[in-house]
Amino acid sequence: MRAEVSVDDAELTALIDLEEEIQRLKKTLNAVILAHYYQESEIQDVADFVGDSLQLSQQAAKTDADVIAFAGVHFMAETAKILNPSKQVLIPDLKAGCSLAEGCPPHLFKRFREKYPDHLVISYINCTAEIKAMSDIICTSSNAAKILSQIPQDQPIIFAPDQNLGRYLNKKTGRNMILWSGICIVHEMFSERKLVQLKVLHPRAKVVAHPECEPRVLQHADYIGSTSGILNYVKQSSDSEFIIATEPGIIHQMEKACPNKTFIPAPPEGDCACNECPYMKLNTLEKLYLCMKHRAPEITLDEELRLLALRPIQRMLEMS
Ligand code: 13P
Ligand code: SF4
Repeated sequence: MRAEVSVDDAELTALIDLEEEIQRLKKTLNAVILAHYYQESEIQDVADFVGDSLQLSQQAAKTDADVIAFAGVHFMAETAKILNPSKQVLIPDLKAGCSLAEGCPPHLFKRFREKYPDHLVISYINCTAEIKAMSDIICTSSNAAKILSQIPQDQPIIFAPDQNLGRYLNKKTGRNMILWSGICIVHEMFSERKLVQLKVLHPRAKVVAHPECEPRVLQHADYIGSTSGILNYVKQSSDSEFIIATEPGIIHQMEKACPNKTFIPAPPEGDCACNECPYMKLNTLEKLYLCMKHRAPEITLDEELRLLALRPIQRMLEMS
């Protein structure tokens, strides 16, 4: 008699062709896979669409798939759910959070907002549904300046939760927005000292940076923009060497688009891999496969909260 062989999920994913199975599940579920540029290369390669936060929410708003498998962090998948209440939104790892979202607790933000009753609240999309529900307009790093240009210069504004992006926007637009003091633990880690050393070693390299970086890093940048902005800049540039001051996951798309150019990741201060987003990197190809196979973990939201969070996201999409 033959013994029963039990194969658990861990063993199974080692035995099967994950890419092939993901493609098969995509058809069976009528699913679309959306991935952020900071995801592992293999996840980006199986996705139907890879983009920045704004592009991913625009894709989520217009998809006709029944299931959205969102390879990104929680606030991104939650935004997709806010826009698509009748669709199932799956995320490979429910714990894939974001230090900006976690650093802005709703009860404290409510008190902060109450101190400035005449202020418009503009929140960066990197926040929870609760914070979105307390905001007037949502923005991303690619549309923030455009959204601000549509608001009268004398309108007082609270900007949350990223203080570096807020500071950068204040400088760029001449505003004096009140800032919530949140930070991205990844962009905060880039070392100005090591960046300057790299510039000396690679004098022809252009420095590109995300506005979540600290001002002392941004001051050395030749270009500052969102992930898609940075990608477009290196693609159209006649230069051939770049120092990348954002999460290095994006280098995958840069190398695909520009195989003859060189991309050097900007280093963190310590001897660590802290320029990689620990939340984004919780997602793996195995977990993407398993979330599609089990149709879980799934993003769920209270309907009243969803409706409150939807309004400022819709304003963002209209103003983008
Ligand atoms: P982008 O909208 O530029 O992709 O930024 C998302 C993000 O989390 C940056 O850390
Ligand atoms: Fe959040 Fe920073 Fe990770 Fe982006 S890179 S998801 S802002 S922790």
